[in-house]
Amino acid sequence: LRQIKVNDDDFGMMTYDPAFMNTASCRSSITYIDGDKGILEYRGYPIEQLAEKSTYLEVAYLLIHGELPNQKQLDEWTYQITTHTFVHENLKQFCEGFRYDAHPMGMLLATTGALSTFYPDANKIDDPEIRYSHVVRLIAKMPTLAAFAYRHARGMPYVYPDNDLNYPGNFLGMLFKMTELKYQPDPRIERALDILFILHADHEQNCSTSAVRAVGSSQVDPYSAVAAGVAALYGPLHGGANEAVLRMLRRIGTLENVPAFVEGVKNGNERLMGFGHRVYKNYDPRAKIIKKACEDVFEVTGTSPLLDIAVELEKIALEDEYFVSRKLYPNVDFYSGLIYEALGMPVDMFPVLFAIPRTSGWIAQWLEMTQDKEQKIARPRQIYTGGRTLDYVPIGDR
Ligand code: ACO
Repeated sequence: LRQIKVNDDDFGMMTYDPAFMNTASCRSSITYIDGDKGILEYRGYPIEQLAEKSTYLEVAYLLIHGELPNQKQLDEWTYQITTHTFVHENLKQFCEGFRYDAHPMGMLLATTGALSTFYPDANKIDDPEIRYSHVVRLIAKMPTLAAFAYRHARGMPYVYPDNDLNYPGNFLGMLFKMTELKYQPDPRIERALDILFILHADHEQNCSTSAVRAVGSSQVDPYSAVAAGVAALYGPLHGGANEAVLRMLRRIGTLENVPAFVEGVKNGNERLMGFGHRVYKNYDPRAKIIKKACEDVFEVTGTSPLLDIAVELEKIALEDEYFVSRKLYPNVDFYSGLIYEALGMPVDMFPVLFAIPRTSGWIAQWLEMTQDKEQKIARPRQIYTGGRTLDYVPIGDR
């Protein structure tokens, strides 16, 4: 900036790019997206292969460490995550302080930030071992905090983690366990949830990840930085679109109403929720995988008429000039809400279900940022549009 100033009174030149639509804020080797071709890769591995062959915990390892683990590394990683699922008892009491109808995402935001206060070494982020313990804790404890929030809003007693269960199974148990008997998740449901976790683990510099990086660049502890990510994801434009899809499908109500609804969208009355994406100008690769997972879940839970409406909407839209010419395809949210509902999740849990797996992406991005010597504190500039050099007027004279 200084070099292109011609004299001291000259402002110089800077890019003006509201919402950073065309500005790369960092270099990253974590997630690759080609929006035109509909490609998503974590550390170079296609999302389709990971969703089919991997597990969420293995994918979390991949995001954090940069390479797939061998069996010994995976066993160790799984052991570490599994043995860190419990949270301090005082966090339970903290949860009890919320109103009876507190939104679970608001609670998750608060409890994630509060985690930092339980670890005196929280801001010692230069020590690799301590840093690693933060990574493990955050991935391990997120489902526990999320389940506490869910049960609080329903006036149900909190369920402690069951470390005999795998990551998604333990989460399902902490949500839905009703008796003293050991919770036995249906393996097909457990797998569907694990696939959803894999698909949501990272998505490069989206709003919440950018928030984690920006806040983390101040060298605050990672619990506070991840809490900033939860806050960004709480917003309806980020973590809330699948809820809007469900509301839309319910409103359409029957298959016969679909064509008239699509005409309304084309006339500009409203948007077809779950369609279109800022980056993907092709079928969102995650939507294809979710559609298949949706069918698997409905085999267990029984189908929903809303699924038929969604399929019909997609069929009509994919053949319609309006959507084709604007490159509007189903995105990750088009089918995910249907699965969550079939799993028995209330809509206020949808963003929470997004935050749990995204934690591995957030923390991988945070680690990358803290190790990147080129990264300084995030401090964008502005184009100032206000007044200048005004004279202060005493209040009686205004
Ligand atoms: N339904 C109907 N028309 C649409 C839709 C839609 N869902 N999305 C975009 N369009 C149209 C716009 O009206 C515009 O048409 P025009 O050129 O005639 O004015 C054109 O397509 C381009 O739209 P933009 O708003 O410029 O596209 P942008 O990239 O800014 O928006 C967004 C992307 C916000 C996702 C948009 O497609 C949308 O609102 N979709 C519905 C909400 C949704 O599903 N959000 C979830 C996104 S995925 C995620 O965040 C995890």
